[in-house]
Amino acid sequence: MMIVGIILFGCFMSCVCADGAADVVLSCAFVEEGTGLGGIGGRAAFVRTPATLVLRDVAVASDESLETLTPFAPPSIPDPDLLLFEAKVSSIEIPNAEVLLHADCNEQEVMCEISSYSLQGSQESSDPTYFMVSLSVDGVEFNAALILQTLSVEKDPSTLVQNKLYLPLSKSGTLLTDVIFLVFSHIKSVSVPLRGDVLLNCGFRQHDTALSQEVGIEWRLQHRGKGRKVLEMKTRLDDAEQFTVVHGERRASSMDASLVVGDGNASLTLNKLKVLDEGTYICTVSLGLFHAQQVIQLHIKQPPHVSLSEEKLILKKSPKTLSCHSSKYYPLDAQMDWLFLAPTDTEPSVYPDQGSLTSHRQHGDGTYSLSSHLTVPPSVSAGTKIICRVSHPAQDAPLSVSAVVETAQPDSYWWVLGFLIITVLFFHQVMR
Ligand SMILES: *[C@@H]1O[C@H](CO)[C@@H](O)[C@H](O)[C@H]1NC(C)=O
Repeated sequence: MMIVGIILFGCFMSCVCADGAADVVLSCAFVEEGTGLGGIGGRAAFVRTPATLVLRDVAVASDESLETLTPFAPPSIPDPDLLLFEAKVSSIEIPNAEVLLHADCNEQEVMCEISSYSLQGSQESSDPTYFMVSLSVDGVEFNAALILQTLSVEKDPSTLVQNKLYLPLSKSGTLLTDVIFLVFSHIKSVSVPLRGDVLLNCGFRQHDTALSQEVGIEWRLQHRGKGRKVLEMKTRLDDAEQFTVVHGERRASSMDASLVVGDGNASLTLNKLKVLDEGTYICTVSLGLFHAQQVIQLHIKQPPHVSLSEEKLILKKSPKTLSCHSSKYYPLDAQMDWLFLAPTDTEPSVYPDQGSLTSHRQHGDGTYSLSSHLTVPPSVSAGTKIICRVSHPAQDAPLSVSAVVETAQPDSYWWVLGFLIITVLFFHQVMR
C-alpha cells in the first residue's frame, strides 16, 4: 500500500493538466563553469545547483487520461533563492513529450541540465537572456536540446530578483521563459551490421520563422580524437529548392532538403556502412544566431562466421587437432570456448583443455578473424560431441558448432573378419 502511495504521489507531482495539455515538472541541475577554484591545473570545474523546470501546456494526446493529475502549484511564498524555470511550450511542439509526462510513473530517470546560453558573436549581456536545456530519459529514446528565452516581467517595487542570475521573478516566483528553438533525436545509439544502411535521426522546431529564414545543418563524425565533416546543408526555410550541400570525404550519405524544410527533419542517411563509419555523430542545427546539437553513437556490429575443421573426428592411436575459425567479425571482442558433451550427459561441460588461440588477424575492411586449435587425445570416448562456442557482441546468444568423436575400428578387427570370410569360402569350396 505504501509503495502504491509513493508512486501515485510521484505521478501527481510531475503533471498538471488542462484539456489536451499538461504541465511537466522536472528536477534539473543548473550547471555553471566554476572559476577554477576547485579545478586542477586551471581547468574549470562545473558547479551544479538544483533547479526546477516547469514545461507549461505540453500538448498531450486527447486519449490521455488526465484525471489523476493535479495542477502544479508554485511555492506560496516566492523564494529568490530557488531556481524555478517556467517555460511556455504551447507555441512549439516538443516531439514525443508524453515520454516526459510518463517517465516518473514508469520510474524512468529524466536527465535535465540547464545552463546559460550566449548568442554567437554577441558580446553585451542582453535582454532577453537565453538558457540551454538538455533533456534525456533513461531507457527511452528521447533526447532534446531546448533554447529558452526570458520573457519580460512587469516590474514594480515588490518584484523579486533571483539571487544567482539577477533576473526579475514573476509574481509566483518563477523565471518566465519561452521555448524558442529545439533540436531533438529519437536515438542515443544505434548498432548496424557492415554494409548495412542507417538513418541517424535528428530534427528541429522553432518558435516562429522570425529567428531566421535560413537553416544550416552540419553532421560531423568524431572518432578516437579525430573529427571530420560528413555532410553540411544550408537551405532557405521558405524554399526547399534553394539549398547547398557540401559532402565530406564520405560519399554515400544524404539528407533530404524537402524534409528539412517541410518537417524540420534533418536526419542523415548513411549507406553501405564500413568499419570506418563508426563513432560519435553530431547533428548541429543553426538558425540565425542560435545553434543546438544532438549526439548519436553509431556502432558497427558484424557477427562472426563460425566453422570447424572437421565434422567427424575419427580418433586412432594418436591425438587429433580440431580447429575452430571465427571469421570477419567486428568489433574485436570475441570469446571462444571449448565444451564437450559426453554420450551419457544432457548438458555440455567445459572442456578441460581450452586449446590455443591464434592472434587476431585484421582484414582490409577492418573486420577480424581468430582461430583456436584443440588437441583431442585418443582417450575421448566415441559419441562425445566437441563444441566450439563463440560469443560476440553482435549476437544475442553465443554461436556453437560441434564435431562428433568416432573411434576407428581397430586394424585387428579387419584381420579377423577377413580371416573368417576366407575360412567360410574355403569350407564352402571344400564341402561341395
Ligand atoms: C525523418 O524522416 C524519416 C524518413 O521519413 C523518418 O523515418 C524519421 O523518423 C524522421 N525523423 C524525424 C526526426 O522527424
